[in-house]
Amino acid sequence: MTIRVFLVGFGNVGRSLGEILLRNPPLSDVEVAGVANSKGSVLVEGPADKAKLAKILSSGERLEKHPSFRPGLGPVEGAVVSGAHVAMITLPPSYETGEPNRSIYYGLLEEEISIITADKTVLALDYARVTGEARRRCLFLGYRATVAAGTPALDSARGLKGRGVEEVRAVLNASTNYILGLVEEGYSYEEAVEKAIQAKLAEPDPRIDLEGYDPAAKLAILASTLGYEASLRDVVRVPLTEISEDDVREALRKGKRVKYVAYADFTRGTFRVEPRVVDSGDPLASAVGEDNVIVFQLESTSIVLKGPAGPAWRTAKVMVIDLIEYAERLEEAGLCGCS
Ligand SMILES: NC(=O)c1ccc[n+]([C@@H]2O[C@H](COP(=O)([O-])OP(=O)(O)OC[C@H]3O[C@@H](n4cnc5c(N)ncnc54)[C@H](OP(=O)(O)O)[C@@H]3O)[C@@H](O)[C@H]2O)c1
Repeated sequence: MTIRVFLVGFGNVGRSLGEILLRNPPLSDVEVAGVANSKGSVLVEGPADKAKLAKILSSGERLEKHPSFRPGLGPVEGAVVSGAHVAMITLPPSYETGEPNRSIYYGLLEEEISIITADKTVLALDYARVTGEARRRCLFLGYRATVAAGTPALDSARGLKGRGVEEVRAVLNASTNYILGLVEEGYSYEEAVEKAIQAKLAEPDPRIDLEGYDPAAKLAILASTLGYEASLRDVVRVPLTEISEDDVREALRKGKRVKYVAYADFTRGTFRVEPRVVDSGDPLASAVGEDNVIVFQLESTSIVLKGPAGPAWRTAKVMVIDLIEYAERLEEAGLCGCS
């Protein structure tokens, strides 16, 4: 069976996915059925459409330049009309209202379309509901790329489910790491944020990083994957800038580091994201640049995971791992034995 994939989002990650799936597909039986951005969709109906999409990818042009672009054709309708089996979602986050992401996810599931996502929104807000809905319909919901994309954080969490993890401490947001590094060098927060945006390291809406939405969303997904159901709304977020620039530099002078720490205490059921001073020997202090570090505390010991987060090309590769798992599951027995 040929797996038909619909790309929902054609930005940094979506374009990288397009490159992989068109030029170097991981499986022989995968094809791009269509692509959506915020303005409309392209349905890839033959070799000419595919060739034009490849050209748009290499030239960096917008999707609207495709001759088959259909303005206003939304991702759910596009995925249905294209006969897609799986939608690969790279929508921007929408943590305050959850929309339009929520409607798109549930719309796809209602249409019996499986999901692979790099977007955290719906899993962070509605983990039990969205995973339950996918399971009930015997659909696949892959989300490896949502936390520490380049490091198998969620594979580790899955492997630790049931081991009684008591606590997680983590640095899960590369942009605030970068910003703190610049503040240590003498920049103000304002200057450091500006540099992070220019370097495309921060979300265009800096509040997502600076007010802790991004690490809080990741913490909620990590906790839920470990078996402790949590929502983004359960996470207390202290803005990064609550710690002064002087205190960041003072910590460095004392051989310590300030990190934006995501913390879950499962025995108390508390979840926080806040700037903390950590000792130089703490694994969290070693997170620099695009590193993420996660410390799982259990059984009177700790398991430490360290590795890269994004960038977009790596995130796309990790989404492809989900696609391979989806294909394997289909081949094995049909999802849940019901397809
Ligand atoms: N970049 C990374 O390294 C990385 C790593 C891990 C996870 N993520 C997550 O992956 C997601 C995508 O990141 P990105 O950097 O690729 O974002 P991006 O460059 O902003 O791309 C987002 C894409 O979504 C499209 N879009 C927005 N609203 C839409 C709608 N209602 N229907 C259909 N398409 C819509 C945008 O369309 P237009 O082109 O028309 O604006 C754009 O093509 C985010 O949730 C991010 O948090 C990113």
